[in-house]
Amino acid sequence: MDDLRDKYIQLIADAGSEAALEELRVAAVGKKGEISLQMRSLGKMTPEERQVMGPKLNALKDEINSALAARKASLADAALEERLRGEWLDVTLPARHRRQGTIHPISQVSEEVAAIFGEMGFSVAEGPQIDSDWYNFDALNIPSHHPARAEMDTFYMNRLEGDTRPPHVLRTHTSPVQIRSMEKHGAPIRIIAPGRVYRADYDQTHTPMFHQVEGLAIDKDISMAQLKWTLEEFLRAFFEVEEVELRFRASHFPFTEPSAEVDIRCSWEGGQLKVGEGDDWLEILGSGMVHPKVLEAGGIDPNEWQGFAFGIGIDRIAMLKYGIPDLRAFFDSDLRWLRHYGFAALDQPNLHGGLSR
Ligand code: PHE
Repeated sequence: MDDLRDKYIQLIADAGSEAALEELRVAAVGKKGEISLQMRSLGKMTPEERQVMGPKLNALKDEINSALAARKASLADAALEERLRGEWLDVTLPARHRRQGTIHPISQVSEEVAAIFGEMGFSVAEGPQIDSDWYNFDALNIPSHHPARAEMDTFYMNRLEGDTRPPHVLRTHTSPVQIRSMEKHGAPIRIIAPGRVYRADYDQTHTPMFHQVEGLAIDKDISMAQLKWTLEEFLRAFFEVEEVELRFRASHFPFTEPSAEVDIRCSWEGGQLKVGEGDDWLEILGSGMVHPKVLEAGGIDPNEWQGFAFGIGIDRIAMLKYGIPDLRAFFDSDLRWLRHYGFAALDQPNLHGGLSR
């Protein structure tokens, strides 16, 4: 019995896997195992022999079983130990610039715009992308027969059957946020409102979804001169140049009077879009003095207050600043494009540290 014991204890200690242990278990204490066969022979013994051998065999069986269990546990510990060594990870290390994910140029530019206007004392406002006909049009002095409605290539939402109210729209511009902000905060006010807007249009410089940032400043003595200064200041800071060449063109918007559109000098040579040189102009924003009817719609007394508003195409200024020639590529989700034009996630744009590094 001692030989049997020594043999199995040694074999169990040497077993290198769970499978090997299982084989040993079967060979020793399985139905036809060596120890089980010995136990079966108890029946042929005299009662005296049996009284001695029975407890001994039972003790041996217990000893083998616990040796098997102990070896099994230590094999599992070793396997876990091995895995932990292989998967070792120090979560306290600083993040590495692996560039697996990047910040989309639109997000980057929106942050840059907010940083610049933030320095000028503007806060960020938001409004819904699906808005009522009233906020998107009427309140902005665009009544239902107005040609501006057709020009905007508006996307209309479906109405429930029998609903005769004007359908909601995918907002065609960020200007409805002017009204919502006036209603909410009254005057004086200084906000920008970046976000998505929608128009049924598609070519190299137009996509059905694009981005604008609205600006609104209302106070007692705001003038067109301050509008011009604000826009020039913003564009110089944004493009990170001493001078930008701008063209203020007299224009018309129902919600501003007078109105001006602003173009910026650029070139498209060899498929490369560059700002500040060349013979081309790219329209990047609309602006003007807020129409008295719009102030009224926002609950502000036009006899007491006046102000300016502007709407800048975020995608356009992103294309110009980062030399991206085709707007459509912004929304293709092409990983090679995103890696090329994307920004490192941990660089927050600010005026002191640099807007874009
Ligand atoms: N909402 C205008 C557009 O989308 C831009 C604009 C905003 C013009 C504010 C003037 C004042 O074209």
